[in-house]
Amino acid sequence: MLLEKMLQSQGFGSRKNCQQLIKNGAVQIQDLIITDPKYKLALNDLEFQVYGESYQYREKVYVALNKPAGYECSHQSTHHFSVFDLFDDVLMNRGLQTVGRLDQDTTGLLLLTDDGQFLQALTHPKKHVPKVYRMQTADPVTDEQIVQLTQGVELRNEKGVFAATDVERLALHELQMAIHQGVYHQVKRMLAAVGNKVERLHRQQIGQLRLQALAEGEWVYLTETQILAAKNQCNEPVADVTL
Ligand code: URA
Repeated sequence: MLLEKMLQSQGFGSRKNCQQLIKNGAVQIQDLIITDPKYKLALNDLEFQVYGESYQYREKVYVALNKPAGYECSHQSTHHFSVFDLFDDVLMNRGLQTVGRLDQDTTGLLLLTDDGQFLQALTHPKKHVPKVYRMQTADPVTDEQIVQLTQGVELRNEKGVFAATDVERLALHELQMAIHQGVYHQVKRMLAAVGNKVERLHRQQIGQLRLQALAEGEWVYLTETQILAAKNQCNEPVADVTL
């Protein structure tokens, strides 16, 4: 691939911008400054530097973020920060999108990507990728509520029944459960439907990809195995950070 095209694909702006960066001597490959925008490159395991900062060529990007509270999943956030504020322009220029949404006050695992197929695979209603949430509840979690959540509840203006799996009471006011759809405010509405209220909500797992080592506000690129895990194509849980 031509150097100018490669740079453009990685989020360094328009073709013209990329040509200018190269001509300015800002781009290095294996410690060599390349000033020819038409320089031809092999993309396998390609690493390059722009103004001394190192980048790895990635055809698509897949990112796991431990979302802090107070951040919205929209580009034009109104009352809060946007999760996109946590990423630099180079990533944003690639058209990074959130895979589904978390409420501004929800914390935990949020995936972002520029791969439309991956996004579809995880958010399509028929795919049923499980998502595990932990929550603090206003009232004690009763056995009856656990049975109701497992059997399924109806939600206003939504078709069908919404059931959770692996519903576990972790403490008197703490519950963990997996949901398999992703309608608006689903967990909060399910808890309201059984007569309780979510006080704090945290997403722990998507498919088999589990949040483990990432601190709030931190993000990592996903490996191939982690991408498969998020799509629920692994047999065992995989942690967010490869240790
Ligand atoms: N369900 C909710 O109610 N809120 C979220 O942020 C995610 C799932």
